[in-house]
Amino acid sequence: MGYRAPGRVNLIGEHTDYNAGFVLPAAIAFWCWIAAAPREDNKLIIHSENYHETIEADLDGNHLHRTRKWSDYPLGVASLLQKSGYRLRGANLYVRGEIPLGAGLSSSAALEVGVACALLEISGHELGRTKIALLCQRAENEFVGARVGIMDQFVCCEARAEYALLLDCRSVEHTPVRLTPGVQLVVCNTMVKHEHGDGEYNLRRRDCEEGVQLLSTALPGIQALRDVTLRDLEDHRKLLSETVYRRCRHVITENRRVPQAAEALERGDLGTLGELMAESHRSLRDDYQVSCPELDLMVDLAAKHPGVYGARMTGGGFGGCTVNLVDRATAIEFKRSIAAQYSAATGCYPDVFVCQTSSGVERLSSTPAPAGREPPI
Ligand code: GLA
Repeated sequence: MGYRAPGRVNLIGEHTDYNAGFVLPAAIAFWCWIAAAPREDNKLIIHSENYHETIEADLDGNHLHRTRKWSDYPLGVASLLQKSGYRLRGANLYVRGEIPLGAGLSSSAALEVGVACALLEISGHELGRTKIALLCQRAENEFVGARVGIMDQFVCCEARAEYALLLDCRSVEHTPVRLTPGVQLVVCNTMVKHEHGDGEYNLRRRDCEEGVQLLSTALPGIQALRDVTLRDLEDHRKLLSETVYRRCRHVITENRRVPQAAEALERGDLGTLGELMAESHRSLRDDYQVSCPELDLMVDLAAKHPGVYGARMTGGGFGGCTVNLVDRATAIEFKRSIAAQYSAATGCYPDVFVCQTSSGVERLSSTPAPAGREPPI
């Protein structure tokens, strides 16, 4: 039995998910593939083709511990499933990821979701997709220690091919928004790994929480930055340090941009959408300070290309990828030219993906043997 779970790009709505706000991601046709078989004992044995490593854990009792490597994602999911009352059977899992690692395309959420689906099926449990997404997010928060929001796991579960997903991260209400025909999603990888940004991610989250706490002394009843208007923020600016004020300003303005961007996409108004993406990038760069020189360069180069409607960094930041909306007729030329210009400027050749969209996690009717090899377990 097997599953494949997709990566994602986010069109707009960055660092808004953990502020109970809006996001607009789409799943992309790069997958994490999981082959799974039950075992007679209570062991969980997981082999990663990417890391050439097999790990073994005991599902009995409280034996699942964090190891600070790739296996924390599947072990975290197993641990959270059990804690939530879903007793697991022993299993062999074989994992092959083709989503670039550390590129901000959500390879970890895909691994979590694929593993959750496989373990649930092997153990005879049925769970809705939204519940699976929430559970995987909790696993990453509580076991792995990254305080991520719900965006990645949710789109990995609920995406629809050819659509982006407008998600309200407070209610988890979601609406598919059709991608304009003739527009190509292109993802450019700066090749700067974002891993070292993890500590910064949690710090941004703390700044937002501090903002809510301080603003709530003047605005009783607010629960999250979602509840604060730009006017409120300006009126009570003196309560906040300059840094926290800027963090809040990013989140509040970004939250306003997302529904506007979804409407622009809906009516095929690519000019407005592109402008909103440019504003989002500037706000992430200047107010939220999660960009880096390589991301800024990639966005600037793209903006100069005649076939590009919009470009911005995507994902958590500190490296990783940009997302570009490109006229389909010029996409291949865009790929060639941006790669040449970026490598001339940095000395580093970027991966540029002309992406197809994907639906959410899928069960495979027959599992293709990964890369022509037999699983060693
Ligand atoms: C990472 C997290 C998401 C989200 C983005 C930033 O991808 O996993 O929850 O916060 O960063 O928008």
